[in-house]
Amino acid sequence: MKRFLAACLALCLMVSGAGCSSVTMETGASAGSAAAASGGKKVGVCMPEKNLQRWVQDGDNMKKVLESKGYQVQLQYANNDVNTQVSQIENMVTSGVNVLVVASIDGSALTDALKQAKANKVKIIAYDRLLMNSDAVDYYATFDNFKVGQMQGQYIVDKLGLKEGKGPFNIEVFTGAPDDNNAKFFYNGAMNVLKPYFDSKKLIVKSGMNDFTKCATEHWKTEVAESRMDNLLSANYASGAKLDAVLAPNDAIARGVLASLKNIGYGSASKPLPLITGQDCEKSNVASIAKGEISMSIFKDTRTLANKVADMVTALLEGKQAEVNDTKTYNNGVKVVPSYLCNPIVITKDNYEKELIDSKYYTKTDLGLN
Ligand code: BGC
Repeated sequence: MKRFLAACLALCLMVSGAGCSSVTMETGASAGSAAAASGGKKVGVCMPEKNLQRWVQDGDNMKKVLESKGYQVQLQYANNDVNTQVSQIENMVTSGVNVLVVASIDGSALTDALKQAKANKVKIIAYDRLLMNSDAVDYYATFDNFKVGQMQGQYIVDKLGLKEGKGPFNIEVFTGAPDDNNAKFFYNGAMNVLKPYFDSKKLIVKSGMNDFTKCATEHWKTEVAESRMDNLLSANYASGAKLDAVLAPNDAIARGVLASLKNIGYGSASKPLPLITGQDCEKSNVASIAKGEISMSIFKDTRTLANKVADMVTALLEGKQAEVNDTKTYNNGVKVVPSYLCNPIVITKDNYEKELIDSKYYTKTDLGLN
């Protein structure tokens, strides 16, 4: 009886879209032959939140690509709430999905839900963020997260001329959400490049805060980064010390850092903005890069990631091996998850047109540049 009720509930949720911020369940437009090839299999796609542009784009791309292959897609966003994501996964399993694609909020909080999915023969792909402490994860598709951090660090080294012996310079460090496995990779990648300059005192952190935990940004929130930056500025730079660079691990954090700096007059000839890094190439950050405010971002082409994940879905459903290019790096505490790492690209004022507009990722209008 309990199972029957759970199945009814799942069905109601699918039809009404209740209980989650977004639900879609459709057969692809070109249903005919693709649907026949896919055997009408169902894929559940769980995304963390809709507040960041990147996840909306990821969800849209995933749905489009999977539907073009004839799969039925349930796409759900969990509003950054772990319990919501757990029940979304449980409901998808009850409703009979064959594969789950999960971009987690807290990578360690889904162990039981994934165990239940595996018991129901559901295949599981970790999307962008690794799913931790679970043997149920079949594959992981992401960008090379360590390399993203290295690229951010290298940008700072190059722009400040550290390799040429210039300095000392003042820098402040931000890190991402502590419950996101990627955040540590970004930090470790950046530190891999920057550490020699901290050691030689060519880079100085006036706040003294340079370890991952002290610099963390809960849920990657812009407001959290903005208020931390306010505090750093008033405590360490109020008497005129120059801030030369801010290591911001993603665009949401970079926006908070920029807002804080601009609030107290940075961005003029007498008070120039420091270098500010980022990642995701969200529209407002690219517009800011074009204006010469935020210095850089990292382009992670969600179209590439969606295609890779869709290939993994097909391989899993056909009982074949999916293409992977890393079988060593991503240990989730229980197993090393076979991974495909896509290539990130550094974006600055000099190449955003070529990489983002010429490649049709954005139009100039998207970026407000017309
Ligand atoms: C992703 C980043 C994103 C961040 C915040 C990370 O897991 O890899 O692209 O900016 O989460 O959503």
